Amino acid sequence: MKSYKIAVIKGDGIGPEIIDEAIKVLDAVSVKKEFELNYEEYLMGGAAIDITGEPLPKETIEGCLNSDAVLFGAIGGEKWDNLPRDKRPETGLLKLREALGVFANIRPVTVYDELTEASTLKESVVKGVDLTVVRELTGGIYFGQPRAIEGDRAYNTMVYTKEEVERIARVAFDIAMKRNKRVCSVDKANVLEVSQFWREIVQEVAKDYPEVSLSHMYVDNAAMQLVRDPKQFDVILTGNIFGDILSDEASMISGSIGLLPSASIGGRVGLYEPIHGSAPDIAGQGIANPIAAIASASMMLRYSLGEEKAANRIDNAIKRALREGYRTKDLSAFGAKEVCSTSEMGSIIAQYASEGS
Ligand code: IPM
Ligand code: MN
Repeated sequence: MKSYKIAVIKGDGIGPEIIDEAIKVLDAVSVKKEFELNYEEYLMGGAAIDITGEPLPKETIEGCLNSDAVLFGAIGGEKWDNLPRDKRPETGLLKLREALGVFANIRPVTVYDELTEASTLKESVVKGVDLTVVRELTGGIYFGQPRAIEGDRAYNTMVYTKEEVERIARVAFDIAMKRNKRVCSVDKANVLEVSQFWREIVQEVAKDYPEVSLSHMYVDNAAMQLVRDPKQFDVILTGNIFGDILSDEASMISGSIGLLPSASIGGRVGLYEPIHGSAPDIAGQGIANPIAAIASASMMLRYSLGEEKAANRIDNAIKRALREGYRTKDLSAFGAKEVCSTSEMGSIIAQYASEGS
């Protein structure tokens, strides 16, 4: 039997609650005896700062690098907001992404038919949306040098190398080949040199994918098009900061930010996390929606472990739970037959996943 090592970082706020449910569901699919998962817990973010004084302890980096995949909840909270930048929880996550080398962040936006009315957008606009944001994750303005606050001015640098653009573009085109063969590259080439450069390189890479149709869009227009007519998109390819902003925007198409997973890949070890944050305001109440974390676990099975069948079982179990009217509090106004707690939702999905074939 195959056996995998999973590094688990629960993090802060609702992180621990939702990751517990993701593990419950993973255990339910691995009891099928096709593979075995061994979990090792590590600290990052506020939880790590409280115990070690550092947002990303060395043991966490080493543990993650020695695993087959990393499953992560969320980090951050008011308690740590006033620390200097290099001691903040977010810095831990950025450093982990860099250490793992996960330059490609995949954020699929799925609209579940049962939840089309949960979106703040009209049902006719969101029904049937199925798009994926491919966000460059270890470059751009997040990491560019120089950066500083100096007296009465401050600056960051948006920089991309040819190699960085090429490799993220390839990820987007490869994903498009398995989907509807359309890539929309989002930039600000009418203003920024770095975007003009990005565009030229994406066009070069496109020549290797003659079946994929490539379009370009300025980021301001893309932000507008995403709420005007999201169905026009298949794969959105973009840089670090534009992808950060557009993926939060795109998440609301689905009705709740508590539904959407992400995979960060392309490096030594893949990192899987819900796209939502640590939501300290609802932490510990048992009302957080664990679906984004559970769907992230499914992406982990698919992308890092190659356990496609088990991943499908989880995806189908999520759909079945929603179809049968189970809802956490965030979605209780939309077709709920039963409003359930975080852990009840996890148990239902785990049960359905273990029954799936
Ligand atoms: C995300 C988050 C992070 C980011 C923060 C927490 C550093 O917003 O994963 O989208 O900006 O990348
Ligand atoms: Mn973000």
